[in-house]
Amino acid sequence: MCGIVGYVGTKQAVPRLLGGLKRLEYRGYDSAGLAIIADSELKIIRRQGNLANLEAALSDFDATGTLGIGHTRWATHGHPSETNSHPHIDCQGNIAVVHNGIIENFHTLRVELMQKGHKFRSETDTECLAHLIESYYQGDLLAAVKEALRQVQGTYAIAVICRQQPDILVAARKDSPLILGVAPDGLFVASDIPAVIDYTKEITILENGELVELKSDGYRIIDAQENMIKRAGIVIDWDIEAAEKGGYEDFMLKEIFEQPTAVKETLSGRINREGIVELNDIGLSDESLRQVDKIYIIACGTSLHAGMIAKQAIERWARIATEIDCSSEFRYRDTVLSERNMVIAITQSGETADTLASVHIAREQGAKVLAITNVVGSSITREADGVIYTHAGPEIGVAATKTLVAQITALILLAVHLAQQRNSLEQEFSREIAKELDALPAKLRTILSQADTFKNWAKTYHDVYDFLYLGRGIGYPVAMEGALKLKEISYIHAEGYPAGEMKHGPIALIKKGVPIVAVALRGPVYEKILGNMQEAKAREGTIISIATEGDGQISALTDEVFFIPRSNEILASILAVVPLQLLAYYIAKERGCNVDQPRNLAKSVTVE
Ligand code: F6R
Repeated sequence: MCGIVGYVGTKQAVPRLLGGLKRLEYRGYDSAGLAIIADSELKIIRRQGNLANLEAALSDFDATGTLGIGHTRWATHGHPSETNSHPHIDCQGNIAVVHNGIIENFHTLRVELMQKGHKFRSETDTECLAHLIESYYQGDLLAAVKEALRQVQGTYAIAVICRQQPDILVAARKDSPLILGVAPDGLFVASDIPAVIDYTKEITILENGELVELKSDGYRIIDAQENMIKRAGIVIDWDIEAAEKGGYEDFMLKEIFEQPTAVKETLSGRINREGIVELNDIGLSDESLRQVDKIYIIACGTSLHAGMIAKQAIERWARIATEIDCSSEFRYRDTVLSERNMVIAITQSGETADTLASVHIAREQGAKVLAITNVVGSSITREADGVIYTHAGPEIGVAATKTLVAQITALILLAVHLAQQRNSLEQEFSREIAKELDALPAKLRTILSQADTFKNWAKTYHDVYDFLYLGRGIGYPVAMEGALKLKEISYIHAEGYPAGEMKHGPIALIKKGVPIVAVALRGPVYEKILGNMQEAKAREGTIISIATEGDGQISALTDEVFFIPRSNEILASILAVVPLQLLAYYIAKERGCNVDQPRNLAKSVTVE
């Protein structure tokens, strides 16, 4: 996720900006840059790669100004490069902008601005902000930023400076975090508290739609209607470690709570006002997608579970036969692929060795390859014919959480898009799905607000030896993922199984007190899973279930139940997986495990 820092005060800006950016390194980034105003000039320096590259380049940079902005970039639009890194400037080189978020309508804005003569240098969505602000600038930076933002759809936290007003910094936010720090020697804005923690602990959190104008001797906050906002600051007592985790105990918990945002950002700009899914930038034409006669999904671990959900969505909605395989098997079996086949390779890191090798084989056989990844510029993006990026932001906890829900979201968009190409879905139904996708972040927040339920369950269930996770239909991959999360972070043996298969063997494992997590969602196989739960109960297993709100039947069959909000059955997989992440997390914590770095595991498996 991009990191922003801005400073205006009485001290040199560059060391403060660089210090702030170093504190944001934990968020992950691919390039960095600074802009300062000194001697009536706007000076910019940017480098691809880590901050050491930027720092080395600073030895030749005249850096005497006391006002500036800095940025670490995590690429979303445009590959990691010096040209795409921030700050971005307008045509005249007077205005510099740093941005975190996604400008959804950047393409339209860019075309309009180009028609008016603006020349663009980068591939980013951010650059249009610099040009847009330039087009409104008439001597008042705050007014120009306010007007420009009226044209913008999407999410943003921005900081802007202007050569003609060398003592002013303007910042604004919508759906991306931004804080204000009040230090003895000046004022800061930043996307995150760690950026300012070495200089101040006095913080004001900006709210959605607010703008702030900073001068070295004070600031004013206004809302979109230009009302002055008075807000008391808070004094935080966090150390740097707590600040990096945003006050959460671990990165994993922080990332679980970031899932509403991960879904929102992944949807951003991909559903139009008519409720039609638009995947214009994936690199595969609509015509080539229409020709696909069979799909193979390949992935590993958690990404494989996203693929299992995608298979159901694609077959049900787009009516395309879809096979799924883990990459480590696919690469060594004698697959028979043709030019009309499409391989969907799912990998959050974009670097998993087995998935890359499988993609290689698929391409050799002439199949089209579409990658689903969270990392712009990763190896898979160079190997694939097309890419759908998830926009979950960097994931630091080893166990995948927010990248999974972003993958499922992207794959559901793909399934609807494929269905639209083939007219295999009623328009009304695909609009309904679009509406339901839009409602997911709020439903996820409802689930997360009940996290204490799982903390309590963990107290009861943390010291068992075995767990069974059962599901059918869409509940099956969810059960598999629940079991994987539990075993990888708590080291409890957990078996994820299609519930209908129980009687063919695993039912022998059930005895008094063995916890059985049943994913019992409303849908075509709901009655079937109730039957399987009955079988487990008859053998004195302890049943914990994830069910749909309003289900009046389930309570009689289960020892514990958590209800998720109602939703389309396929989309419910996103909602049902979150309680299982929380259950695994709290059980692992109760057992004293290091959830962010479980033993024997690596975040990215780049060897076979
Ligand atoms: C589980 C987990 C792993 C990864 C797997 C694939 O929490 O993180 O199972 O899902 O190693 O990684 P990517 O998606 O990077 O290919």
